[in-house]
Amino acid sequence: MAITRARILGTGHSYPEGILTNADLEKMVETSDDWITSRTGIKQRRKAAAGEYTSLFAVRAARQAIERAGLEPADIDLLLCATVTPDQILPSTGCIIQAELGANNAAAMDLVAACSGFLYGLTMADTMIRTGRSKYALVIGAEILSQYVDYTDRQTCVLFGDGAGAAVLGVVEGDRGILAARIRSDGRYLEQLFSPGGGTRRPPSAETLAAGDHFFKMRGNELFKVAVRSMADISREVLEEAGLTAADVKLFIPHQANQRITDAVANKLNVENERVYSNIAMHGNTSSASIPIGLDECIEAGRINDGDLVLLASFGGGVTWGGVLMRW
Ligand code: ACO
Repeated sequence: MAITRARILGTGHSYPEGILTNADLEKMVETSDDWITSRTGIKQRRKAAAGEYTSLFAVRAARQAIERAGLEPADIDLLLCATVTPDQILPSTGCIIQAELGANNAAAMDLVAACSGFLYGLTMADTMIRTGRSKYALVIGAEILSQYVDYTDRQTCVLFGDGAGAAVLGVVEGDRGILAARIRSDGRYLEQLFSPGGGTRRPPSAETLAAGDHFFKMRGNELFKVAVRSMADISREVLEEAGLTAADVKLFIPHQANQRITDAVANKLNVENERVYSNIAMHGNTSSASIPIGLDECIEAGRINDGDLVLLASFGGGVTWGGVLMRW
């Protein structure tokens, strides 16, 4: 009997035109291009202008993905928007995107898993498709992180960028598609990356605003070690589940958090530079958008061909992590 799998049929990405370079940041906080480049690999990041919001870029990425899948918005029956920077609290950014696209036959919702959001979404969509509950699923990762970055905190403000990426999945029979997908979290590490204010625990007020409680707070050094270990472990797990090894992987697209994290994970997996995708220099860390942007850039550049084994791995606030292995 043929095996039914979920497969990515089309991808897209979009980001703001505004660029924030390391030279710009040198004028804002005590830092240097040298420090940022050597510690993170980042040279620039996209930054939304006033009036630009998350769904704006999500819709553009989604339209591209739907078109490249050869579908119409009305074909989508599941719409998952991974974001930690929604347009507003209610309704979900997923529903806002749905209305803008005219994807009126979809169940739409948001998914909060920080930088792992896109892989959480892929995993959910994979399950829904394989069980016959969804025919065509749209998974989006979209963030305007610049709205939650404290541009007086040199540890975080150099890292984050804005953007969106999307993928449409459908059913396929045979060897292609998602071979293995795993997601994990560990809330014991929640204070390694969090924004303490703005929710019901510390509702927005003049005090929380003045204290900058809505901004991301990060313990970068601690995150670094957990990120490397978790991404390497989950990559091995999905490879093992599929009966494959890192040597079989044609392209590894990790979450773009820091070039040193990418290098350390690749090193642990024995995947040499040529098989690892990095766009961190151009985009910084765009959280849930980083993997779908990377995936779409690789497809546009012709780096992924039919039959290629592609490994995705992520780690983010929560903490959350995930791994997805697919045969293109
Ligand atoms: N410019 C200049 N100096 C800086 C800057 C900066 N932008 N930021 C920190 N420093 C200083 C620190 O104050 C410290 O100075 P001190 O020694 O006088 O106290 C020194 O540089 C070293 O600081 P560390 O925090 O130890 O530097 P590290 O090498 O760990 O790099 C970084 C910091 C880049 C944040 C790194 O820890 C990192 O990337 N961690 C992962 C965090 C991350 O990616 N978070 C995103 C979300 S989760 C995820 O996606 C994985």
